[in-house]
Amino acid sequence: MPKIVVVNQAGEEREIEAQSGITLMEAIRDNGFDELLALCGGCCSCATCHVHVDPAYADKLPPMSADEDDLLDSSDERDGNSRLSCQIPVTDALEGVKVTIAQEG
Ligand code: FES
Repeated sequence: MPKIVVVNQAGEEREIEAQSGITLMEAIRDNGFDELLALCGGCCSCATCHVHVDPAYADKLPPMSADEDDLLDSSDERDGNSRLSCQIPVTDALEGVKVTIAQEG
């Protein structure tokens, strides 16, 4: 059960406990962050689960698929730390990571 710090679109931080085995998107959504729309339910086709992940954890994340890369390209908010949170499984390696919900766009 890694602890993850989630920063909402207003810049407010809250620490959550995430269950290993679910996705980062599910962990964020299940903790009441309804601004993470996750409209497609996690099947990598909507990009509304866009987050910025603390770059210190970049090597603990699975590689980005071509589909994820293409979807992120549709967002004006994309930066070097952008990922789709439904494509990231929660593991103990993510203990302490800070994840910022992307602004819409
Ligand atoms: S929930 Fe749709 S791409 Fe992640």
